[in-house]
Amino acid sequence: PDDFPLKGKKILVTAGPTQEALDPVRYFSNHSSGKMGYAIACAASRTGAEVTLVTGPTQLEAPQGVSVVQVNSARDMYEAVIKRFEAADVVVKAAAVADYRPETVSGQKIKKGDGPLLVKMVRNPDILTEIGARKTHQLLVGFAAETENLEENAQRKLEKKRLDLLVANRAEDGFGKDTNKVTFFFAGGRRQAFEQMPKRRVAEEICRAIAGLLETSVL
Ligand code: C5P
Repeated sequence: PDDFPLKGKKILVTAGPTQEALDPVRYFSNHSSGKMGYAIACAASRTGAEVTLVTGPTQLEAPQGVSVVQVNSARDMYEAVIKRFEAADVVVKAAAVADYRPETVSGQKIKKGDGPLLVKMVRNPDILTEIGARKTHQLLVGFAAETENLEENAQRKLEKKRLDLLVANRAEDGFGKDTNKVTFFFAGGRRQAFEQMPKRRVAEEICRAIAGLLETSVL
């Protein structure tokens, strides 16, 4: 077996949460730890890929040998990904991108009043849908963490975002943990279900699947 199946491949990985500013000291975000994306960046780099990791704020150390791009908001991440998309062979979108951001960012810290505070939230771009629409030769891998209707939602996202592989899990099985229990949904209908395993192992299985897809796509 080839120890370096991704040798020379340019892989773009996104990881972590995004932060959507409300004022100079506050933001909306989520509990994503970034562990899954970082583990994928590590595994891909170990198997010979040239990896760029576009990451929201996390507590994690930059993986060795990986080029890291730090971003904050979903729109920053969108720009960082679009800029590098053309040159990539594979894009793995493990980031938990905020779907909404506050419509306006206050220049000053918002003072508290006696009543409720109403914040209007507007949609962020869906990065994966955007690159799905533009893809030429790139392999696209997405994630879906669902609290309900896992299969239906996974299948719908795979098709809507024009992905080659969707890695799905129940939200409670993966979020913030060191392990995950995932099912791979491939374009074309093939599925592969795994037992719970460390994210490092999930990352290796994802790299193995990517190597398999790259191999069949050149034949
Ligand atoms: O949020 P959703 O479940 O649709 O996310 C599925 C996939 O889409 C994930 O891989 C996520 O990184 C990506 N996504 C994105 N931009 C968004 C929302 C989600 O790239 N604004």
